[in-house]
Amino acid sequence: MLHEKTCSAMANLVRVLVMIVIMSGVRFIIIGADGLDMNYYLASCPFVEPIVKDTVNRALQNDPTLAAALLRMHFHDCFIQGCDGSVLIDSTKGNTAEKDSPANLSLRGYEIIDDIKEQVEQQCPGVVSCADILAMAARDAVFFAGGPVYDIPKGRKDGRRSRIEDTINLPAPTLNASQLIRMFAQHGFTAQQMVALSGGHTLGVARCSSFKNRLNKADPALDSEFAKTLSKTCRGGDNSEQPFDPTRNDFDNLYYNALLRKNGVLTSDQTLYSNPTTRNFVNGYALNQAMFFFDFQQAMVKMSLLDVKDDGEVRENCRKIN
Ligand code: HEM
Ligand SMILES: *[C@@H]1O[C@H](CO)[C@@H](O)[C@H](O)[C@H]1NC(C)=O
Ligand SMILES: *[C@@H]1O[C@H](CO)[C@@H](O)[C@H](O)[C@H]1NC(C)=O
Repeated sequence: MLHEKTCSAMANLVRVLVMIVIMSGVRFIIIGADGLDMNYYLASCPFVEPIVKDTVNRALQNDPTLAAALLRMHFHDCFIQGCDGSVLIDSTKGNTAEKDSPANLSLRGYEIIDDIKEQVEQQCPGVVSCADILAMAARDAVFFAGGPVYDIPKGRKDGRRSRIEDTINLPAPTLNASQLIRMFAQHGFTAQQMVALSGGHTLGVARCSSFKNRLNKADPALDSEFAKTLSKTCRGGDNSEQPFDPTRNDFDNLYYNALLRKNGVLTSDQTLYSNPTTRNFVNGYALNQAMFFFDFQQAMVKMSLLDVKDDGEVRENCRKIN
């Protein structure tokens, strides 16, 4: 009798222990080691996702070129000090912020983030970080432009540092493939993920100042007809815009097809086709858009988690530290 009771008590204890292990495993998968969570705002700000999506959609219906702006802004945010909204901060008397670096080039779209933040603050003040808003807005912009749909974990905190000198960590458009591979590897990306992320250049434009370095001498990696197109663009001055591919507002794989034809705009674009390692991935993505979308989406989630902070703040105004 006694023996039986002990046995079943033991069995129960084992069952409870197993449950605890399973539950904490599930918790770990959902919450993640960094404190981020797909459902982070489920209770504290349940409508944040539709607010971001609707505001982004409305802005892009008005001006579809802003999809590129939001995507690029998120990339710049994450590559400097992690995805902490530092790119959104305005300069002050004592501090020149990231956004005033020459590398900010044509960063735009800050008003969309401000608009979202205002609405979210009305519903749930002090809860949703600017870094999360930017990450969600970039994701929704990609989808609006015809790209893949994906979810990202939330719970990033906003950083308190935004310094012009940190923008030195952004990749320059004159880098070659081995330099790009090395730079992205510092953030934990493989060469293939770097090529997939460069596919962000399926959206938007570069200004002449970003590619005129290529026009002084004959470049075997640059199609001679396309060189004339670039030169013609530059006749309009340093700020004249050249689309990266024939469909600047559509998220597709035509960027990679342009590289196959030596119609890449930046040195850092065309080098992906010149380098034998990265050329394989360019060929793959040019042939198979579904594969590009899949790899892009995975790499974007990874980028959105770069050096996320749990010790920052939730900014009241995305342009100012509290
Ligand atoms: C691989 C290294 C990269 C380099 C060297 C680079 C460089 C540049 C440069 C020079 C421009 C043009 C800026 C101008 O002239 O106004 C640009 C634009 C852009 N970049 Fe990148 N970029 C890189 C990676 C990325 C990544 C990873 C993304 C996003 C996933 C991205 C998204 C964009 C977008 C969307 C634009 C167009 C912006 C607009 O039209 O407003 N770039 N990039
Ligand atoms: C980018 O930086 C320049 C200074 O290099 C500044 O004049 C310009 O206002 C900045 N652009 C944005 C959008 O912040
Ligand atoms: C890439 O650039 C680096 C630094 O300028 C240089 O040492 C290297 O030879 C270049 N690689 C190629 C393949 O051009």
